[in-house]
Amino acid sequence: MRFCVFLSLLFLNINLEVFANGIGNRYFLEKQRSLLEILHHVQEPLLNDQWRSLGEQLVTDKEQYVFYNKHMTEFYKAFNLGKLLHRNAYYNPLFADHYQQTLGLYHFFYNTRDWYTLWQNICWARVHINPGIFVQALTQVLFKREDYQALIMPKIYELWPESYHDDITVSKARKFNYANWIRYENTGDIEEIHPQKMEPLNLEGDLRSSLEWFQAMADVSILRMKQPKKRKQLYYLLEDIGWQSYWYNLNIGIAFTEENSIELQEWWYFQLSQLLARYKLERYGQKLTYKTLAPEEDIKRQNHRFEEESPKTSRIIFKRLEKLEERVADAITFRSFQLNNGSLINLDVDDNWLIGLGEIFPYDWTQLTIEQDIQPELLLDIRTTLRSENFYYYAERVLQAYRWYRQVFQPSDQKIFIPSDFRIDDMQISPLITYDQQVDVDLSNILHAKHFYLAGQFVWPFTLQQQQFRFQHKDFTYNLQISSNKTQSTIFRTFLTTSERGRIQREPFYQLDSFLTVIYPGLNRISRESNDFRGLIGDHISFTELHQFVKLAEREEYDFPLNISTPNCGFPRRLMLPRGGRGNPLKMRLLIVATVYDFKARQGNELYCDFSKGISRWDELPLAYPFDRFLDDDIQAVEISGDHVFWKDVQIMHEDF
Ligand SMILES: *[C@@H]1O[C@H](CO)[C@@H](O)[C@H](O)[C@H]1NC(C)=O
Ligand SMILES: *[C@@H]1O[C@H](CO)[C@@H](O)[C@H](O)[C@H]1NC(C)=O
Ligand SMILES: *[C@@H]1O[C@H](CO)[C@@H](O)[C@H](O)[C@H]1NC(C)=O
Repeated sequence: MRFCVFLSLLFLNINLEVFANGIGNRYFLEKQRSLLEILHHVQEPLLNDQWRSLGEQLVTDKEQYVFYNKHMTEFYKAFNLGKLLHRNAYYNPLFADHYQQTLGLYHFFYNTRDWYTLWQNICWARVHINPGIFVQALTQVLFKREDYQALIMPKIYELWPESYHDDITVSKARKFNYANWIRYENTGDIEEIHPQKMEPLNLEGDLRSSLEWFQAMADVSILRMKQPKKRKQLYYLLEDIGWQSYWYNLNIGIAFTEENSIELQEWWYFQLSQLLARYKLERYGQKLTYKTLAPEEDIKRQNHRFEEESPKTSRIIFKRLEKLEERVADAITFRSFQLNNGSLINLDVDDNWLIGLGEIFPYDWTQLTIEQDIQPELLLDIRTTLRSENFYYYAERVLQAYRWYRQVFQPSDQKIFIPSDFRIDDMQISPLITYDQQVDVDLSNILHAKHFYLAGQFVWPFTLQQQQFRFQHKDFTYNLQISSNKTQSTIFRTFLTTSERGRIQREPFYQLDSFLTVIYPGLNRISRESNDFRGLIGDHISFTELHQFVKLAEREEYDFPLNISTPNCGFPRRLMLPRGGRGNPLKMRLLIVATVYDFKARQGNELYCDFSKGISRWDELPLAYPFDRFLDDDIQAVEISGDHVFWKDVQIMHEDF
């Protein structure tokens, strides 16, 4: 059997395990519906009487928990003393106190023995606890408890549209009066649209063209609010809801995870380097400086609830960065490091450098809590961090320090991974075309809650969608032609970079694709579709549709597929290419690097923000290989020159449709 086939079978099995038989039964559906109803308008008081009364008391009987730990004791004590964060106060898990409260509630969820206890606690928290704490703790539990992992959370930007849309949109949606709108028929810039018109049409699983979709949406009026204009410059990337929520989910998934922290740390730094490289490619495409980033001057962007970043925050971060850089410089100078527990280790001995790495470089935001209360700021809110341009400047400094440390201490035996009797002869690629795509984004959670209760019953009579422009590209394919004199299993990594041939170190390399295949003696042709690149996800159904599908399935008119939504920790596929040029194409290069397969591939479940099974990897090379270290600029580094690599000039066009 070919290894790739074998591996994909292996991967398939693991996915099936998560989605046993793939269809939600009625117990699942009941839980799923309850969950959606409780999360509906989560920022407002709960209107559902049944759950309000169920939520009067937190379950405090210790028998109902697998563990009853000190986080729970402290949380409950604080609750009784009235010391928990007020419902309407601004919540930020980076504040030490808010974080402790989240941790307490998380344990009250996570440690429950059964669904009934968990559900009562969920209802209680929905009624009594700050909605930020509630959503955070609940998301964590659904990511981490294997028995509830199949339950679907609406996407964060649908739960909290306020944080992702401009003030005008939010206030329009908030003031929207359905009864008046019907009476005066299509006034203003909100119009009713036919279901077939909802964009994008091609969701994963082709859900929006199915017969069941029309059935599910039959009783729902779809209203659309127009977004006035396209976003300028980099904002179409920075303000993209998929871009932002990817980072949110990934960090929420990592928080409170204890498994193999060294591996998780490496993975996190790899994701960070990918984001930074992707951001820099966008700057390059826009002809903005990208080689080294500078902190942004205090630019005030209008129409958003958050400030960019206060001088006080900048000071705190600069201090922390300097301390980090100092520790790395000292470690390199003295070849030793003092651990937090006081003992001094020699970094040249055994795997000590990994212990130092683990202690010097934080990756879990729960390690970065701050004491002071600060006003809402983009940078410090984990939902919106990626919207802050300074983030990329800070990220670059942290990554520099991280690479230096690895460069100095990581043992280097990577040359043995270079394949022999092997040559990449050619590469062909279909046109790379980007465009702006109009899509609808669900704003229903901003609408007044009264629209959703009829005589005390929860109903979903209409949905409000905002039409937005977002970034998209056409599918593409590339082909490789390879000669070999022997049969060998090989890993390929494909990077996108600028067309600057100068110093490799300062150019961003963004990994687009990686795969494993077997190369046979003679000429080999390999074809890769952009839709098959790993770790990327397409579009999912909205909060409204999710709810309607659950209702349809409860009426036994639909087999509810457990994979109906997209995995939360996947990166949006449509964002993998930077915006092309109009008229003049954007010139870039691809780099393909082949390495010998060491039969150490592993499959984790990180796409679903679940790190309990470790991280997927092809081999034991660093995840960021060969850019995990600073490659030599003067002589062509052996990792990226020779027959096992291939450079290809490419062009990206931007088209209007
Ligand atoms: C769910 O899985 C099925 C079977 O593998 C697949 O055909 C379908 O497209 C998937 N749906 C989504 C939304 O990804
Ligand atoms: C400190 O931690 C290191 C690494 O975990 C361990 O080997 C060492 O024994 C600890 N030293 C003390 C004094 O606890
Ligand atoms: C295969 O072997 C032949 C004969 O030794 C040599 O000319 C050719 O370059 C080799 N091909 C590769 C891809 O190494």
